[in-house]
Amino acid sequence: MDARLNLFGKSIPAGIDLHTEIARLRKERNAVILAHYYQDPVLQDLADFVGDSLDLSRKAAATDAAVIAFCGVKFMAEVAKILSPQKTVVLPDLAAGCSLEDSCPPDEFGAFRAAHPDHISLTYINCSAAVKAHSDIIVTSSSAEKIINQLPRDQKILFAPDKHLGAWLNRKTGRDMLLWDGTCIVHERFSVTELLKLKALNPAAPVLAHPECPAAILDLADYVGATSGILDYALKSPEPTLIVATEPNIIHQMQLRAPHKVFIGAPGADGNCGCNMCPFMAMNTLEKLYLCLRDLTPVIEVPEAIRVRAKLPLDRMLEMASAVTPVPVTGD
Ligand code: 13P
Ligand code: SF4
Repeated sequence: MDARLNLFGKSIPAGIDLHTEIARLRKERNAVILAHYYQDPVLQDLADFVGDSLDLSRKAAATDAAVIAFCGVKFMAEVAKILSPQKTVVLPDLAAGCSLEDSCPPDEFGAFRAAHPDHISLTYINCSAAVKAHSDIIVTSSSAEKIINQLPRDQKILFAPDKHLGAWLNRKTGRDMLLWDGTCIVHERFSVTELLKLKALNPAAPVLAHPECPAAILDLADYVGATSGILDYALKSPEPTLIVATEPNIIHQMQLRAPHKVFIGAPGADGNCGCNMCPFMAMNTLEKLYLCLRDLTPVIEVPEAIRVRAKLPLDRMLEMASAVTPVPVTGD
């Protein structure tokens, strides 16, 4: 067959329209396509739902589709599988990982926990299923502050794996959480010098930053929050120009919803390096989405013992993130 492209040893027939095929397969498979704001705009545009990590977890838990095609990174697809084990969860590229997950090997994390038996472990969702299985409560950047504020003031807490998010949460909540030494390679690359230059050129433009950025960047921000919060702020702000210090693919949603505004991606060290695109998110493409819906592979599997253990702190997150009145936390 005249192949248009060969990926993972699989060929895509020449001349097919990938959008039409994906629409057909989505129906045929009873699939839902979930996408994170950091995905290529092409994938965002054909997703059934685009959201932040918390919204995507909620969607994955609630869907009645038979297949979840996850346009995001592996830990997000794993969360979908943990919460919806009866579904088939596929990820366009299984190599789409995360530097935060890589910074926190489960055995080292287990030892960290064992060394601090009087602490509970609050763990950022950007980690492996095995690390979640060692955790007490999972948080996302949009839910962390609300969840921490439901914990007793004298509760000792370990926070992993993102030290910048952890430090920001310590500042916001007045806690003294013990922090794991992990970082996001994308949010670490923004340059303070270049951001100051950009602010000087656009003095009225608010700076919106994700809390995975180092403190020196957050100190220059007018708003710090999760991707959903950043998007919301960008849309509601009366300012016509805004500076966005997070993965630049989120600007696609801003531009779609507020085409009259100007959104400027915050620069890296060379002033315009494009190095703050997430290389893991970028592994997912239209071609790979088509193939994973066609062949139902790569499929996400989580060993049942880990899945069951990892679901507990995820369920706590979902409950505490939605709580109107604080949910009392008891140990395991
Ligand atoms: P949120 O979308 O939850 O803000 O997370 C951002 C992120 O780092 C995804 O990898
Ligand atoms: Fe991980 Fe950073 Fe990419 Fe998010 S942006 S998936 S935290 S590497």
